[in-house]
Amino acid sequence: MSDSSLSSGLPTPGANYSLKEEIRTYWSGRAATFDSQVGHAIKSDAELAAFQSLLRQSFGAEPREVLDLACGTGEITRALLSLGHKVTALDFSEEMLARARAKHGDRARILAGDAERLLDDDGTYDALVTRHLVWTLTDPEAAFAEWFRVLKPGGKLLVIDGDWINRSWLQQMLNRAATFLRERAGAAPHAADRDAFDSITKRFFFRDGLSFERLGTMLRQTGFARIEAADYAQVVRAQQRNAALHDALRLASSTRFAVLATKG
Ligand SMILES: C[S@@+](CC[C@H](N)C(=O)[O-])C[C@H]1O[C@@H](n2cnc3c(N)ncnc32)[C@H](O)[C@@H]1O
Repeated sequence: MSDSSLSSGLPTPGANYSLKEEIRTYWSGRAATFDSQVGHAIKSDAELAAFQSLLRQSFGAEPREVLDLACGTGEITRALLSLGHKVTALDFSEEMLARARAKHGDRARILAGDAERLLDDDGTYDALVTRHLVWTLTDPEAAFAEWFRVLKPGGKLLVIDGDWINRSWLQQMLNRAATFLRERAGAAPHAADRDAFDSITKRFFFRDGLSFERLGTMLRQTGFARIEAADYAQVVRAQQRNAALHDALRLASSTRFAVLATKG
């Protein structure tokens, strides 16, 4: 049994376990330390301001009905609430949801559910945002169709994600330097269960890596229009300014991007 499954008290994935359950077990095992890792919790006023700017550019300045899909510990929800949006936050990990509930109480509607099969009526939301979910989806075509369905006509979808599988030569160097400096600084190693991670990533739909282009093509095929890049780099810059050198390098060691799409 892995360390993370011992510490989370969750069962080890077995032969009769679906990939989706393994994904949930993996994230549940990371819930306790998730916010302490770079690029997760909003750590500074400058980072919050960068998020607010990204969300205003994507959804406009008026408060809207917004769904935060795969909300995790509720950090994107935090940014949405700070702009006055009415937020529904959904995740399938109770360990993650407990942290989101502790942060936001009843200021947001926080629900357990599967992001690939929503229970909402058609045309419920003005906007939908999801960070770091798409790369792990087991059935992205079905998920995107669901997200299209629950948006109002003219509604906006903002996907924040990255390629967590492939690294350019430069990104590999930056990642090695980040690991070296992190160890030299005596910082605790990341608590992720490496074996579980390697096992599940091999079976993801996007096991070869997610790219802006591939995601854009799939969203267009779903029916979304006006597919464009959103400026997530402003958030990453703010994260780097407030981070230790090893964490700033780590943030630069993967390709991160955001896609904004509109339900035409
Ligand atoms: C990398 S974390 C990101 C959390 C949050 N979006 C953030 O950026 O801080 C991925 C989250 O996706 C959730 N998740 C993965 N697949 C899901 C699914 N099919 N339905 C609901 N939640 C899912 C996990 O439980 C986990 O909380």
